[in-house]
Amino acid sequence: MYAVFNDNLLTGNNLIDEQHREIIEKINKLVNTCENGTCQIESIKMLDFLADYTEKHFQEEEELQREVGYPGLVEHKKRHDEFRVAVKELHEMLEEEEGPSERFVKAVQENVIDWLYRHIKGFDCSVAAYINMAHLPERL
Ligand SMILES: [Fe+2]
Repeated sequence: MYAVFNDNLLTGNNLIDEQHREIIEKINKLVNTCENGTCQIESIKMLDFLADYTEKHFQEEEELQREVGYPGLVEHKKRHDEFRVAVKELHEMLEEEEGPSERFVKAVQENVIDWLYRHIKGFDCSVAAYINMAHLPERL
């Protein structure tokens, strides 16, 4: 149940794509701790790395939208908030259950991996297309 970055997930914006690639790598490091049954501390550490990096990515992606006056920013931010809530729940789960349980792994699949795929296709691709359009005159 590792996450896979493939061409299907490319938005057409290099900065966003590279950050998504990094997020997927961090998700897989977290999944890896679950599969190996590594201790609770290790899983929490990997979840924290993922949360920190994703936060940085969200901030930058939101800033890009602000710069080009993207009309869907408010809605987009709400989607990012969903992810923040999901990560908080995962954190609580890890602490309550003393490590990554089956329930935890399922939540990572649904609320992190599947969420990210859907979010990239449904939201980030539109942002990248808008940015590319906004910068079009500079390239002509
Ligand atoms: Fe996004």
